[in-house]
Amino acid sequence: MRLVPWMPDDLTRRLDDVVAVYGEAMGYRAELLEARRGYIATHARRPGFRAVATLTRDGHLVGFGYGYTSASGQWWHDQVRGALTEEARKSWLTDCFEVVELHVRPPAQGHGVGARQLRALLRMATGATTLLSTPEADESASRAWRLYRRFEFVDVLRDFRFPGDERAFAVLGRQLPLPS
Ligand SMILES: CC(C)(COP(=O)(O)OP(=O)(O)OC[C@H]1O[C@@H](n2cnc3c(N)ncnc32)[C@H](O)[C@@H]1OP(=O)(O)O)[C@@H](O)C(=O)NCCC(=O)NCCS
Repeated sequence: MRLVPWMPDDLTRRLDDVVAVYGEAMGYRAELLEARRGYIATHARRPGFRAVATLTRDGHLVGFGYGYTSASGQWWHDQVRGALTEEARKSWLTDCFEVVELHVRPPAQGHGVGARQLRALLRMATGATTLLSTPEADESASRAWRLYRRFEFVDVLRDFRFPGDERAFAVLGRQLPLPS
């Protein structure tokens, strides 16, 4: 397997595979995935977009991650901004890279692929901070949570509800750059 940086066009060219990996990793139904497909294509055009992919030797997509510069007018940014104090907004959102998606196909999970993708993505990112959201879960029983804690992400918001989603989310963050 190899980890490669992706340009926006690489992601849009492989959108079917990206949506398939996303669906498998999150266990989402087809209708929901169709809506996500449109968003992902739009995300690839945002300023500060960075993406990585993990491919098998014959080019099959095993996992991917991407993010971009968080900015006013973006739905996620505006929701998070609205829930933060003025001081937290300043420190977290002034120069922030949002990790938007990070997924690995279930059969490949648990072998360090997600960690390598996250490290590479954050090394490529511009910004003084990085933020992400993840569903609330038992931290020790969730692979995603263990991964983010290993990368020293701290709590920014807990039990946060995004409009239109019944689940509770945590917003986690850390300073950039990662130590070398
Ligand atoms: C969350 C997710 C991206 C993590 O990717 P992953 O490849 O499974 O995670 P990793 O393999 O890097 O880390 C898992 C384990 O591998 C171990 N590991 C790390 N580096 C390793 C390496 N070089 N070699 C072998 N194992 C390694 C870690 O210790 C870790 O152990 P743990 O899970 O018991 O803590 C992935 O599991 C996933 O797609 N999950 C479903 C979707 C999801 O939750 N996405 C995030 C939503 S916000």
